[in-house]
Amino acid sequence: MSVETHNASSSTDFDPFTDDVLLDPFPHYKALRDIAPAIYLEKYGFYGLFRYDEISAELADWETFSSAQGVTLNPMANEALKDNVLSTDPPRHEKIRKVFDASLRPKFIRKVAGDLERRAEELVDELMERGEFDGVADFAQRLPVDIVLDLVGLPRDENRNSVLDWASAVTNFMGPPGARQEAALPAVQAQVSYLVNEAKPERMLPGSFGEVVYASADRGEITHQEAIDMMMGYATAGLDTTISSAASTLWMLAQHPEQWQEIRQDHSLIPPAFLEAVRLESPVQYFSRVTTRDVEIGETTVPKGARIIHSLGSANRDERHYPEPDRFDIHRNPVDLLSFSAGVHSCPGRTLASLEGHALFSALAARVSKIELNGEPTRHVNNVTRGLASLPVRIS
Ligand code: HEM
Repeated sequence: MSVETHNASSSTDFDPFTDDVLLDPFPHYKALRDIAPAIYLEKYGFYGLFRYDEISAELADWETFSSAQGVTLNPMANEALKDNVLSTDPPRHEKIRKVFDASLRPKFIRKVAGDLERRAEELVDELMERGEFDGVADFAQRLPVDIVLDLVGLPRDENRNSVLDWASAVTNFMGPPGARQEAALPAVQAQVSYLVNEAKPERMLPGSFGEVVYASADRGEITHQEAIDMMMGYATAGLDTTISSAASTLWMLAQHPEQWQEIRQDHSLIPPAFLEAVRLESPVQYFSRVTTRDVEIGETTVPKGARIIHSLGSANRDERHYPEPDRFDIHRNPVDLLSFSAGVHSCPGRTLASLEGHALFSALAARVSKIELNGEPTRHVNNVTRGLASLPVRIS
């Protein structure tokens, strides 16, 4: 990694978005953290933040670090997502966010998703009979796909099978300009066309988020375009992320059998174990902001109007904040992790993701004494999200 320091600011020609780096970013993040609190990434013309404290301060200050010019890493996606809740600052943000918050309260989730625990128990019973399975497709995907799509209210038809592919295309589309981002465009267009032409307001499942959103648009509280953007945000944000977190937790527990035994004895360790896996693997690695004034970060003056990207995955492994950050420790309970972001845009789906995780791992802890790897896991390469593509496991 070549680093230059001039006018007291550091810059590098290092590219964090090659396949190799995306597959194993953590040693590179450490090197980037050690350079300076803010680094200019020459290839893309962004400033990059990789340390916990600076990212935490950035997320807390929406007036200086604005989302209103988009939070993705390329102009095309920022334009396409300009009506998305992610791309707004208060007060507009508050208006849209209220609708999300209402639909992601535990009471609403329970009403639509029914008995999460029972769904998880049935799934684990089925997997116990099989003994060997794929921890991604057969375990981690099942609850989020059913529950999130029921919550969103998308019709129960064959299009549901495409929603997962579309979700990962959208996150690739959010990456920096380049081949991976461009290749995602057709799938993104297919998702938009499905939401506009197929998943029409009158086809939303009764009592679902979709129904709430379109009713709110009918009353003039939000525009019809904002409603479609919300549907898109919901179907994208809630899928890959939750799948990745459940698969990562299973992967960690398979690698740490002694910690699994502790969890079996004491189920109150399930939420901290889930958070610890989400800290280590950070399903969302990058988002960005634009500065509204010149701002000093360490020795660097970031000019007004600059795009700053922040790596949540790096912040969560910053040794300045978490001792021995690469170690999986179910006793750490990292409630201040940045995986769900922080500040006004902090993830409204955190409760749903945690409820799903809790239901899945409680069902496992009550039934399964041993979780073992049954082959090498494989990974998706994605510009923004991080997750396993397959995880061969054996349980008994
Ligand atoms: C482990 C699971 C999840 C992770 C790691 C995660 C991560 C994130 C992150 C990092 C952001 C912040 C973006 C920013 O700062 O600009 C965010 C926002 C958001 N998430 Fe999640 N998410 C998860 C699950 C979910 C679920 C299950 C849903 C809904 C079903 C959801 C819906 C949203 C929405 C609507 C926003 C936009 C909030 C806003 O801009 O105010 N997320 N999520």
